[in-house]
Amino acid sequence: MPGPRPTLPASDLARTVVFAAFIAVLGLFPGFYVGGSGVPIIIQNMGPLLAGIILGARRATAAVVLMLALTAIGLPLLSGGRGGVAPFIGPSGGFLFGWIASALVAGLIAQRARNRGLPVLLLAAFAGLLADYLVGIPFLGFYTGDFGAAFVQSLVFVPGDLAKVVVAALVASVVHRALPGTLVSS
Ligand code: BTN
Repeated sequence: MPGPRPTLPASDLARTVVFAAFIAVLGLFPGFYVGGSGVPIIIQNMGPLLAGIILGARRATAAVVLMLALTAIGLPLLSGGRGGVAPFIGPSGGFLFGWIASALVAGLIAQRARNRGLPVLLLAAFAGLLADYLVGIPFLGFYTGDFGAAFVQSLVFVPGDLAKVVVAALVASVVHRALPGTLVSS
């Protein structure tokens, strides 16, 4: 008996590239610097969460790595038209690397769930956000030399990030209902 039809590598690649582009487009929204940490409040970090809960871990991680690689070689894909290596070694560098963890964690939870209803998508996106914080906040603390201040300064992101988690889960839930085959175990 034939097994499940393997996903075409070409369609994998297409979805990965489309999401890398989508995350880049979110960078067109400006960032706001609040709280003195040098890390902006942005919309762009919703991209890795959305990629994870729509595409699954493997393709979402690839999309984020592609987008970050293009940024690192100089394309101005971050909010405010920034690019190059500087953002990765600045105060928000940890959050940028954390986007890979966001996509991976959100994707793993979403793809392993038996149903992909709104509660699971919310949980997956929230876990992806925590994964970003787990990388970004210690990195910021290391950068500034004050881990306590890094934690406190990062509290300013929480309300907006929770809103992004909800928006990402709602969007993904619509996508999964409209295109049930979008997220396959990877
Ligand atoms: C950059 O553009 O240099 C990366 C910015 C990273 C911002 C982080 S992502 C998680 C948290 N939520 C925000 O709105 N900002 C920070």
